[in-house]
Amino acid sequence: MAQDQASPNGPDLRQGVPLAELADGGKLLGHVGDDAVLLVRRGAEIFAVGALCSHYHGPLADGLVVGDTIRCPWHHACFDLATGEALRAPAFSPLACWAVEERDGMVFVGEKRARAKPAAGKAATAAPERIVIVGGGAAGFAAAELLRRERFAGSIVMLSADDAPPVDRPNLSKDYLAGKAPEAWIPLRSESFYARNGIDLRLKAEVADIDVRSGAVALADGSTLPYDRLLLATGAEPVRLAIPGADQPHVLTLRSLADSRAISERAAGAARAVVLGASFIGLEVAAALRARGLEVHVVAPDRRPMERVLGPDMGDFVRALHEEHGVVFHLGETASAIDGQQVRLSGGGTLAADLVVAGIGVRPRVALAERAGLAVDRGVLVDGCLETSAPGIFAAGDIARWPDARSGERIRVEHWVVAERQGQTAALNMLGARQPFDAVPFFWSQHYDVPINYVGHAPTWDEVSIEGDIAARDCILRYRRAGRVVAVASIFRDIESLRAEVALERGSPLQDAGGVRSGEPSLGRPRG
Ligand SMILES: Cc1cc2nc3c(=O)[nH]c(=O)nc-3n(C[C@H](O)[C@H](O)[C@H](O)COP(=O)(O)OP(=O)(O)OC[C@H]3O[C@@H](n4cnc5c(N)ncnc54)[C@H](O)[C@@H]3O)c2cc1C
Ligand code: FES
Repeated sequence: MAQDQASPNGPDLRQGVPLAELADGGKLLGHVGDDAVLLVRRGAEIFAVGALCSHYHGPLADGLVVGDTIRCPWHHACFDLATGEALRAPAFSPLACWAVEERDGMVFVGEKRARAKPAAGKAATAAPERIVIVGGGAAGFAAAELLRRERFAGSIVMLSADDAPPVDRPNLSKDYLAGKAPEAWIPLRSESFYARNGIDLRLKAEVADIDVRSGAVALADGSTLPYDRLLLATGAEPVRLAIPGADQPHVLTLRSLADSRAISERAAGAARAVVLGASFIGLEVAAALRARGLEVHVVAPDRRPMERVLGPDMGDFVRALHEEHGVVFHLGETASAIDGQQVRLSGGGTLAADLVVAGIGVRPRVALAERAGLAVDRGVLVDGCLETSAPGIFAAGDIARWPDARSGERIRVEHWVVAERQGQTAALNMLGARQPFDAVPFFWSQHYDVPINYVGHAPTWDEVSIEGDIAARDCILRYRRAGRVVAVASIFRDIESLRAEVALERGSPLQDAGGVRSGEPSLGRPRG
């Protein structure tokens, strides 16, 4: 994903623009000096904010205004138009804001405003003193960051089994693995961030046990740490291959920065790779290895890649897209053994491989919660506010199974943005807010220059309707269960994806094409 700065375009907003050019609810892109600035009108109020999202610099001019907020078209971060505050992950940093003046039917943008201090913590009165977070990934990081933004003044200790501070995990299978993203993009924050914000980040710190009665965690090194509130955000681990030869050094999985580096190092001296698994991670790895010039074969038992999540039509498209880029599929097969450089297939064939990457699924890391006696059922069970069966202990991210506000069913998903947003909700609730987690699940996946965005949750569906043309990379697919749209996948239909998110949040019917307004053009441009 490119992190390029768009060069400022549009009018110089210091010179003023006619108010008549800015309809109520409308946006106007201009600049102030070198800064791209977006004007947004809401009734009598006009806001001027930075035009690029603070996550990956998505163009907010193509985003959706919802009340006094704006949502990013790329990965659905949400910002407060009045303060610039990043209200929802995956963005954490605020947008810059400018002073606006209206005179004689013209709108003038003045000086950049000093950053307003975030509102005081919503539940500071009942705040605990010691918060311990187990996990230095998406949910753990988002929780710690928001606790400090909420001006939580107590101690925060973040214990992570990783050897690196929290990283942008999605990038580990995309541009970073393809060798197109510099190392500097990978940490979510610089190391100094943690010290500056009083977050005691301890790496290679494996938590072995939780003593729920006394309120303390025991680390693998024998030390203990008391807590008033505990957040479990231990994520998931790759399913390991259980076939002969899977223990060889050229057979790898991908979860951590260290894993991504190990695959890159192996790829540097390799000519042929076999990827086992045709799901998101497997195929992103295949794309990254193609970008590095390797011959890539994908072996998977499925009939089509990603069919279970996206349906047959999108599955066929994804296959064709990878084939266009030279990937060779061996579907309906599994690997039965790896003999040195030979991968034996269930159908009897063999494939030569200098590198094998197994992307055959993940399992939530629930052992710690189980040992502590917390309720666990294919994930750590939490209530609507993400609290586990033990009061004061919360869970978020890949391990959490929560009651979905829309279906009423307990669900668990493995999405980056969901994990971050759950970390944020858990943070507020550890401070006593009792805020239900009701965000609509969202994920994106990137294959070459094609991003696929998905909102909602549809483990099963009765029907998929397709609007637009999948092969032309301009489409929106609606997945229906019992007549209701429960999820929407799209390619370069960002504004419609955002509208679908809002409609799902509000429980508005999204029954057919007419249910989603499509007054604005779709955005036919690559992000990569
Ligand atoms: C390569 C890759 C690419 C991905 N791409 C996308 C994408 O494009 N879009 C998307 O939506 N999702 C993507 N995902 C999924 C997404 O990254 C996860 O859903 C998300 O990271 C889950 O966050 P989490 O906080 O639950 O767990 P994680 O981010 O995995 O963090 C778990 C943390 O817990 C620590 N930990 C575990 N056990 C212990 C213990 N006992 N003691 C101490 N620490 C412990 C780990 O060391 C780690 O720091 C991707 C995942 C991977 C691996
Ligand atoms: S670029 Fe805006 S949310 Fe990712």
